[in-house]
Amino acid sequence: MRALRIIDTDDGPRGRLTTMDRHDLTDGNVVIRTSYSSLNYKDALAVTGAGKIARKRPLNAGVDVSGVIESSTDDRFAKGDEVLVTGWFLGEKRDGGLAEYVQVPGELITALPQGLTLWEAMALGTAGFTAGMAIQRMRDNSQAPGHGPVLVTGASGGVGMFAIDMLARAGFSPVAVTRRVDTQGDALRAIGASQVISPDALSLDGKPLGETSYAGAIDALGGEVLANVLGHIKPYGNVAAIGLAASPQLATTVLPFILRGVSLLGIHSVECPTPLRESIWQSLAGDLKPTHLQRIAASTIGLDEVADVCSAIIAGTHSGRTVVDLQR
Ligand SMILES: NC(=O)c1ccc[n+]([C@@H]2O[C@H](COP(=O)([O-])OP(=O)(O)OC[C@H]3O[C@@H](n4cnc5c(N)ncnc54)[C@H](OP(=O)(O)O)[C@@H]3O)[C@@H](O)[C@H]2O)c1
Repeated sequence: MRALRIIDTDDGPRGRLTTMDRHDLTDGNVVIRTSYSSLNYKDALAVTGAGKIARKRPLNAGVDVSGVIESSTDDRFAKGDEVLVTGWFLGEKRDGGLAEYVQVPGELITALPQGLTLWEAMALGTAGFTAGMAIQRMRDNSQAPGHGPVLVTGASGGVGMFAIDMLARAGFSPVAVTRRVDTQGDALRAIGASQVISPDALSLDGKPLGETSYAGAIDALGGEVLANVLGHIKPYGNVAAIGLAASPQLATTVLPFILRGVSLLGIHSVECPTPLRESIWQSLAGDLKPTHLQRIAASTIGLDEVADVCSAIIAGTHSGRTVVDLQR
């Protein structure tokens, strides 16, 4: 079988397209013949070696996969069933989805929800799932469209574009925050952004608090941008922290929390418990299914093109989602 495998090289861990024996896959009682995967920031870190994602090596890369059950000793799944797996340390501790077969314990598998194809499930992948989880957590904490616009940072990335589309679909007014206003502005407005602004527009000029122009935020960046975002949120708004594309650091004060009642919600998609996971996937196949899925995931590539796209993701020149056709 073919696999994009992370191996140790003299320059550190790197992804290499290789062949391997199916029987050498990490343990599990269900084998999936894979159909699609997709490329997340974490996959790009793993494949390029920009981050140590694969905690043991060699290990197949890929945090997401969809496909068809090949064999199973788990009663819930039978040969031919269409399924998906996202997170659960795929590509980190277990052989991941950028391969022709995946073997996992049955409890990690989600049945493909009605309303999604195997391709659509991976066009969404962890990025779509994470955007859906952020919106669900914000709504659970009383975020409502009438409270005002919601910022989305890292807007032209996978999570960002899905967050914009889904927020707009749910009746919110998403404001895209991108370093690439000139080149990505039209595309972001086309998927539902009500405004497109640069991160500089959120600067607090060293103050802990600024004008309360926004009712909430979904932040993919961390660092200074997240600190600035917190200072602009209206009382009782929610900020979902999903990423660290700019920095893992967060230097802020407690003022947004104790003077405005702002909530900082942590989003951890990898180990999302199964009941919540299934309800989010149902939502992604139904009321939150992105209106512009094909436009956001405009590119489908083969395994041999993965390394180049991963380099573009790390360079910050990629936009949207790239799906990987694993049988191409
Ligand atoms: N918490 C979770 O469970 C979870 C799940 C999925 C992803 N994540 C994290 O969420 C983040 C986004 O993931 P993704 O898959 O959407 O990544 P992506 O497709 O690469 O998008 C990230 C976006 O952030 C902006 N960006 C990239 N590098 C930057 C930098 N150095 N400084 C400022 N902005 C930068 C770019 O948008 P602009 O050019 O438009 O500014 C880029 O398109 C990553 O940190 C990822 O690890 C977390």
